[in-house]
Amino acid sequence: MPFELAPLPYAYNALEPFVDERTMQIHHDKHHQAYITNLNAAIEKAPELATWSLTDLVAKLGQTPESVRGVIRNHGGGHWNHDFFWNVMAPAGTTKATAKLSSAIDANFGSLDNFKAEFEKSAMGRFGSGWAWLVSDSAGKLTVVSTANQDNPLTDGLTPVLGVDVWEHAYYLKYQNLRAEYLKQWWNVVNWDQASKNLG
Ligand SMILES: [Fe+2]
Repeated sequence: MPFELAPLPYAYNALEPFVDERTMQIHHDKHHQAYITNLNAAIEKAPELATWSLTDLVAKLGQTPESVRGVIRNHGGGHWNHDFFWNVMAPAGTTKATAKLSSAIDANFGSLDNFKAEFEKSAMGRFGSGWAWLVSDSAGKLTVVSTANQDNPLTDGLTPVLGVDVWEHAYYLKYQNLRAEYLKQWWNVVNWDQASKNLG
């Protein structure tokens, strides 16, 4: 069964005014769809991958055939990352971190503000296109990492808890070159319920 684009878990305008409706439409309907289309084309060329889950394709990238590995990396990663991204956002003011996530952030970063500052710094430091992530390692330690393009922390054995897309397609229509402002406003639409679930 080829991969398919799931609808957004909320309306295109649900994240206004922090993430605008037009950006969400193009980002979801065009960019995310393109990753899926290209991923499906790669799997057609390597049918032994047809039974793999999306997470397996990303986490076990090194075990995929070399002939399609680059496409899986970019487009499988693109599909995984965007599925994740839509779900770690929600209409402003509708979600709350669990005590477990809040205390883990405090324990690992000192405070929520320190965590946000480190996350924004990582996102600002990503030259060109990519992502910033809050990740958990196998011992449950939380850190902030950044990946280029559509690379994913799962490939390095880390579990994403939160992630922000800093490709220009994620913010350019509303924020133009002002990535820092996009990041500052993005906190308003973080889905803390989902981040808490991701922590496990
Ligand atoms: Fe994106």
